[in-house]
Amino acid sequence: MTDQHALDYIRKLYAQEDPLLKEIANTFEQRNNAIQVWSEEGKILNILLKIHQTKTVVEVGTLGGYSAIWMARALPRGGHVHTVEKSPEHAELARSFIKRSDVADKITIWEGEGAKILSRIAETVQTVDAMFIDADKTGYPAYLDWAEAHVRKGGLIIADNTLLFGSVYQNTLPEDSRARQNAWQAMREFNNRLADTSRFDAIMIPTEEGLSIAIRK
Ligand code: DHB
Ligand code: MG
Repeated sequence: MTDQHALDYIRKLYAQEDPLLKEIANTFEQRNNAIQVWSEEGKILNILLKIHQTKTVVEVGTLGGYSAIWMARALPRGGHVHTVEKSPEHAELARSFIKRSDVADKITIWEGEGAKILSRIAETVQTVDAMFIDADKTGYPAYLDWAEAHVRKGGLIIADNTLLFGSVYQNTLPEDSRARQNAWQAMREFNNRLADTSRFDAIMIPTEEGLSIAIRK
């Protein structure tokens, strides 16, 4: 969405990665799977959690632990990121990176399928201060159900890719594949629900991928 020169300038000036974050990004770049948030989005997550004084946050979609580390660095002593990853391979990579980070004691990786693991997390944490959704796009409405049940009032719900790669604002179903149609329908529903002012104060920051931010009323 934003001019590439502007993004480069912002990244370099405000959102530099330390060597570990760089290594995580490079690892996924080499696997042609660099789908973690960009560094400016990591920094936005970090700043939001600080402003909000978040203590407990649940993330869906760990990948290599990149965003979990950005978030964990915003938390006070005793704060925690519970992060859910479906792929055993990614969970293993994330474990190895997080172990080497300065916030290893603030992050727990839960390996398994999102909905299943979230109900297990709910048994242990009851309510959380914030949730970051960055996983399978068709799952977003179900993740929002979980957020409405378990993120406290005044808590934050943040979601990546809510522009759905430039397709969410097209007013008709994409015609190319069933998978894309399902994702489009899910993201339309997700955004429409967040826009309900009786339930949320919400906005989308037009980052490259679209980053939605909502306060649960
Ligand atoms: C994809 C997923 C993401 O979360 C993202 O930020 C970019 C791409 C994907 O599945 O292709
Ligand atoms: Mg994403």
